[in-house]
Amino acid sequence: MTRLVHKDIFEINKRIKAYDQEIFRSQTGRSMREIACIAAGGGDLKPSLSVACVTVTGGLGEITDFAGMNAAILRHCGADAEEMKCRDVAGIQEAFRKRKDLILMADDDVFSLFGAGLAVESDNGDATGTGYAAALAEAIKHRGFPLEGQKILVLGGGPVGRAAAVYLAEAGAIPCIYDLDLEKAAGLVRLIPGSLLLEIEPEYGRYSFILDATTTGDQIGAKDVSKDTIISAPGVPCIATEEAAKIATVIHNPLELGVITMYYQCLARAGEMGYGNS
Ligand SMILES: NC(=O)c1ccc[n+]([C@@H]2O[C@H](COP(=O)([O-])OP(=O)(O)OC[C@H]3O[C@@H](n4cnc5c(N)ncnc54)[C@H](O)[C@@H]3O)[C@@H](O)[C@H]2O)c1
Repeated sequence: MTRLVHKDIFEINKRIKAYDQEIFRSQTGRSMREIACIAAGGGDLKPSLSVACVTVTGGLGEITDFAGMNAAILRHCGADAEEMKCRDVAGIQEAFRKRKDLILMADDDVFSLFGAGLAVESDNGDATGTGYAAALAEAIKHRGFPLEGQKILVLGGGPVGRAAAVYLAEAGAIPCIYDLDLEKAAGLVRLIPGSLLLEIEPEYGRYSFILDATTTGDQIGAKDVSKDTIISAPGVPCIATEEAAKIATVIHNPLELGVITMYYQCLARAGEMGYGNS
């Protein structure tokens, strides 16, 4: 996973409403909240669980504003979310004392939203892959194309690519999986019925629909895309060049959709356990 820096998340709180309404909706036909509900299993989930966003200072250290921006993203999708004043263990204690339902925190290796008393959890990698796959699926349908039997290029076989490929295969598409690490891609294909292994680097231009879960930026250029190409790209940095993004539809944000999907996955899982709505 690429580590985010402050400039990646700078002023998400000020941009998120316009981004969701004017860009994301025009790309997918839906809001990020609606996509997250679909990714979480469908149904209109009420944002009934409160969230404490806790800053972690260990490891490589704090990403300035990370907890605050996550709280803003969650508030945008209707959640009662608050950045804790205290950090690290004291922040967790503050969350318990404020009777928050869920805690969101990240260190260098794990980014998780989990119950503070509720036995629910959503991992950011899994939620991001699922959310971006749902966004791609909805964008394809929004353009009037079928998903069933549709070949979709999935680049990267880490946690994000794996979750995306699973979602797409379960939705009836054919994930065509490529990773620089061939063994990793082959392992994924063995796990996902209906997926295909690409053993050599694909010609990007041969695919209309691409899910990028790599760590490589600026790999897909203007010559590789048309106005019909849709690239759903959680990968940081973005795989599409600025020139390509002027031609194709490129769904990309550094944090927002993944975090909103984490929240709605927790709501769905809490609902399955009989808490709140479902
Ligand atoms: N936008 C978000 O909200 C969000 C959230 C989580 C992760 N991410 C990003 O998503 C990406 C994937 O995350 P991850 O945890 O699965 O990462 P990972 O590092 O575990 O896996 C990435 C995989 O991509 C492969 N890869 C790298 N460059 C490639 C290329 N050019 N072609 C094919 N394969 C290539 C690597 O071999 C690796 O297996 C990362 O860039 C991460 O930072 C974004």
